[in-house]
Amino acid sequence: MTQLDDLEHGTPFVDRHIGPRAAELSTILDAVGVASLDELATRTVPASILAEGNPVELPVPATEAEALAELRELAASNSPLVQMIGLGYHGTVTPPVIRRNVLESPAWYTAYTPYQPEISQGRLEALLNFQTMVADLSGLPVANASMLDEGTAAAEAMTLIRRSGRAGKSMATRFVVDADTLPQTIAVIETRAEPLGIEVVVADLDGGLPDGEFFGVLLAYPGASGAVRDHERLIAAAHERGAKVAVAADPLALTVLRSPGEIGADIVVGSTQRFGVPMGFGGPHAGYIAVGKGLERQLPGRLVGVSTDADGARAYRLALQTREQHIRREKATSNICTAQVLLAVIASMYAVYHGPEGLRAIATKAHRMAAVLGAGLRAGGVEIVHENFFDTVLARVPGRAADVVTAARELGVNLRLADADHVGISCDETTTRAHLSLVWQAFDVTVSDVDGLDESTVDAVPAGLVRTSEYLTHPVFHTHRSETALLRYLRALSDKDVALDRSMIPLGSCTMKLNATAEMEPITWPEFANLHPFAPVEDAPGLLRIVSDLEDWLAKITGYHAVSLQPNAGSQGEFAGLLAIRAYHRDQGNGQRDVCLIPSSAHGTNAASAVMAGMRVVVVKCDEAGNIDMAHLKSTVDDHRDDLAAIMITYPSTHGVYEDTVREVCSLVHQAGGQVYVDGANLNALIGLARYGEFGSDVSHLNLHKTFCIPHGGGGPGVGPIGVREHLAPFLPNHPLQPTAGPETGIGPISAAPWGSASILPISWAYVRMMGADGLRKATLTAVASANYVARRLGEHYPVLYTGEGGFVAHECILDLRKITADTGVTVDDVAKRLADYGLHAPTMSFPVAGTLMVEPTESEDLAELDRFCDAMIAVKREIDRVESGEWPADDNPLRNAPHTAMCLTEEWKHPYTRHEAVFPAGTSAPKIWPPVRRIDGAKGDRNLVCSCPPPEAFE
Ligand SMILES: Cc1ncc(COP(=O)(O)O)c(C=O)c1O
Repeated sequence: MTQLDDLEHGTPFVDRHIGPRAAELSTILDAVGVASLDELATRTVPASILAEGNPVELPVPATEAEALAELRELAASNSPLVQMIGLGYHGTVTPPVIRRNVLESPAWYTAYTPYQPEISQGRLEALLNFQTMVADLSGLPVANASMLDEGTAAAEAMTLIRRSGRAGKSMATRFVVDADTLPQTIAVIETRAEPLGIEVVVADLDGGLPDGEFFGVLLAYPGASGAVRDHERLIAAAHERGAKVAVAADPLALTVLRSPGEIGADIVVGSTQRFGVPMGFGGPHAGYIAVGKGLERQLPGRLVGVSTDADGARAYRLALQTREQHIRREKATSNICTAQVLLAVIASMYAVYHGPEGLRAIATKAHRMAAVLGAGLRAGGVEIVHENFFDTVLARVPGRAADVVTAARELGVNLRLADADHVGISCDETTTRAHLSLVWQAFDVTVSDVDGLDESTVDAVPAGLVRTSEYLTHPVFHTHRSETALLRYLRALSDKDVALDRSMIPLGSCTMKLNATAEMEPITWPEFANLHPFAPVEDAPGLLRIVSDLEDWLAKITGYHAVSLQPNAGSQGEFAGLLAIRAYHRDQGNGQRDVCLIPSSAHGTNAASAVMAGMRVVVVKCDEAGNIDMAHLKSTVDDHRDDLAAIMITYPSTHGVYEDTVREVCSLVHQAGGQVYVDGANLNALIGLARYGEFGSDVSHLNLHKTFCIPHGGGGPGVGPIGVREHLAPFLPNHPLQPTAGPETGIGPISAAPWGSASILPISWAYVRMMGADGLRKATLTAVASANYVARRLGEHYPVLYTGEGGFVAHECILDLRKITADTGVTVDDVAKRLADYGLHAPTMSFPVAGTLMVEPTESEDLAELDRFCDAMIAVKREIDRVESGEWPADDNPLRNAPHTAMCLTEEWKHPYTRHEAVFPAGTSAPKIWPPVRRIDGAKGDRNLVCSCPPPEAFE
């Protein structure tokens, strides 16, 4: 009889997360040639690092229901008050139609960065809407598809100015920052500036620009204090002195204020959080950056542009600089890779839904609430510091500020304690009269006639700064006002895309695994979503418990001493980890150590991050087998004995192999006084098998948006925590506004928010909580087994480029198409696009080796889906054979013409293959994806950059 013990918990989550059933796993293992997952572990992972008999200590796994119940309890212990702190984070209403159909919809959140544009037209259009929205509001012509947050966007503006044009050639090393800039933005800029030798001069600019040379200026509009200042003269003065000017602006304020572009700004940065994205204790939200003419080729991050497809139809795709790090590596403009696509889509849809008049109404509401609030305080004898403001008033209460803030908290409202004498109060879309009354009460002010006060209070925006120029004039911002219309628009867009809800996405180096619903559910709960990042920590015990649990679990999983969850993408983790190394060397009196060794196979962000951390990059060669060339490493280490700061390796390597020299690599570098950074993007191949901190690494970043189930969101959000050994723990990131967010001796903030993208941490928490140590180990080994299965099945058709000892790969495999291309002319692009006709998403193209495809199936795909992919790849090879044999011409075959749209079938058919062969190569019973466009001409779009919505006539 089955025991109650076995029955009462239902199906373990691990059986939902892992795709192959027991019988399927046996088939996979048979094909791979091992008897069990344990045997696979010992035959693939080098014995020198295998953490046998030393399991990760994690809690006993919870079921989905149990984990959700625990999360509910944690959520209930949070108390999000009415948040009127401001400082760049504001209450906002996520329209339910957007919450359910974007934020909570796997069609949007499980997509990857749109590197295959033919099957990503939906999110590319949404991002083009975002770019158009930002460009219109900022008054500058080109905006990118999102930044990680306002702080990092401002820091990128600083470095963009430095390398651009006349300012770039200037010898000036000073960057002037308006003292009324958000304090976290100033702090992030300072963290970024120091290793680059930039001096940040924070100055009160009311009296004009400081003396001396400087290459750029950052102005706040409105300021952190709420003040709205007319910067036009200051900008002109900066230009006269050869400096460029960036403006940090609140996009909601820009619906009623003259745009920065109109007053002369060269760059505009900010956050679109208040466009429908909850505060979430700090993130994630989409930061933005827009630039003036001539700076567009310098833009960091991803830029969506307009091009045409093979039939001449308009089509969207990412512009060239998107892959810039892989091409330019240490010369890249920035290390940003994963950005904030899902959040940018939400913000853009908020603008699409409300339109310009709706946004203006929301802005006007926030403004009028603040104006009436200020008038009430004034009437009650409280001094309001600034005449001109948008949504924030700064009240002067000498010696009483703390008491007022405490009184407000007792009434359920969080205000900003600016200093002992000043209190900041911000209004937003969610502010009500009742909130105003509570604030007045906290100040001991009585207002009896709010309507009367409203009538007698004039606006606080100066007449000269009232916006008169139009914005959001494109029809897309005017045609989706009803919920029905928006719902259908969202559905029409997502139907154009391939996300994990339609097909496996075997992108090597990306770990496109299940993002379980139980993991996702909590992120929109108000107790997590409505926390302000600078609210007192007493308001967030539940979320902080999730933070500390996760830090603890990740430390145990990786063998590190301490973890910081602040970096909000892998790239930011790299930067943080390298800064920790730099700070450590300086602390040891070894400030001259500035060389970072990076193998030639490394991800492009590694080199870009090292340069940002003030290091010089020296490339270490790989040998024929794809491993680090040990002889070259030894001689390079010898050459740099005195100035070696670090080596940055990826493990398992970006070639998808467990290199057995990893311990030796670590000790060679240590002996020469260097530190070891292991890029943990491939941790999905290691959990439960080996631990970075135990085999010689000093620091790693992990990508929670890969291994720990945070969905990729079409290119963000991400979380890139770093783990460090004990000696580096004093140098983890910290935050000026939340002392508990890191060590006092830390390197400063890497992200604008103390715990980065805190609101999505419940996803990874739930994953670990539900998998437990054994489940995680099984997931790792299943991922490795599946990759080896694919390698075995496809190896005879496409050579597998690299394998480790014993002929095994790790969790991904590289298929080498270079000879096929040389012999037949069929390229990796042709194969990738053809897979869309088979109803599949392509693997990673040409990374880390040009002319190859890298396949990472992950543990979540069952055998049927693995076989569907392998069968398609084999069928594609047969098609290639027909090209090679001359049956199909090299320039007219289903591969070269892929993908095929429904539209192309309606035209006269002159090809040497049938329509059926074109669109149903896998038969009519397989899932069919209809790409909305044919092959897109990327180069054409790069030559002629169009980065905002083309007018409807352009489509005629
Ligand atoms: C090996 C490796 N390192 C670093 C990164 C950068 O991570 P992120 O995109 O989160 O910045 C990636 C991302 O694809 C990666 O594959």
